[in-house]
Amino acid sequence: MKERLSAKEGIKYLPHFPTVLIGTGKGKKANLITAAMVHVFSIEPEMIGTGISPKRHSFELLDEYEEFTVNVPDSSMLEELKGCGSSSGRDIDKFERFELTKEKSDVIEVPGVKEFPLILECNLEKKVKTGDHHWFVGKVVNAKKAENFERSETILYWGGEFRKPGDLIE
Ligand SMILES: Cc1cc2nc3c(=O)[nH]c(=O)nc-3n(C[C@H](O)[C@H](O)[C@H](O)COP(=O)(O)O)c2cc1C
Repeated sequence: MKERLSAKEGIKYLPHFPTVLIGTGKGKKANLITAAMVHVFSIEPEMIGTGISPKRHSFELLDEYEEFTVNVPDSSMLEELKGCGSSSGRDIDKFERFELTKEKSDVIEVPGVKEFPLILECNLEKKVKTGDHHWFVGKVVNAKKAENFERSETILYWGGEFRKPGDLIE
């Protein structure tokens, strides 16, 4: 027998999602937002989407710049994820506050985060209004990875929990 849940409860039981810093804006307006609503939307061409609430400063910047970087952390970067996920670029410069360095992108104008081991540069292609978050879907136009980065050493988040990916089962 299975317990019947509300939709709200049901989605909480989904497994944890990769959690990243989305970079948008450039120069003094460069900003970072922590996002766990991140997924691959197409493999060919390579498209990544991120669900962003209209309440976020990053929402306005994504509309303005139509470019973003997906900065994937290693598991030592939890404080940076928590910090950029609990403060707004309307009030502070998050690069300065969290001692992160802007890494110039090769193909797009908005910067990535030097300290983060995987950076995907994306051009915004589509915006989809779903509900309280809108999906910004971008084409990956460049990717850079630190030599020692392992996917198992990243951070996942959902339902109030941060985790590392679990055991390899096949
Ligand atoms: C672990 C974590 C995951 C988050 N995921 C998202 C997300 O996927 N989409 C979103 O809009 N906000 C998400 N947030 C909230 C934003 O990161 C937060 O509201 C941030 O302060 C917005 O920054 P901004 O105003 O500079 O854009 C998340 C926060 C945390 C801590």
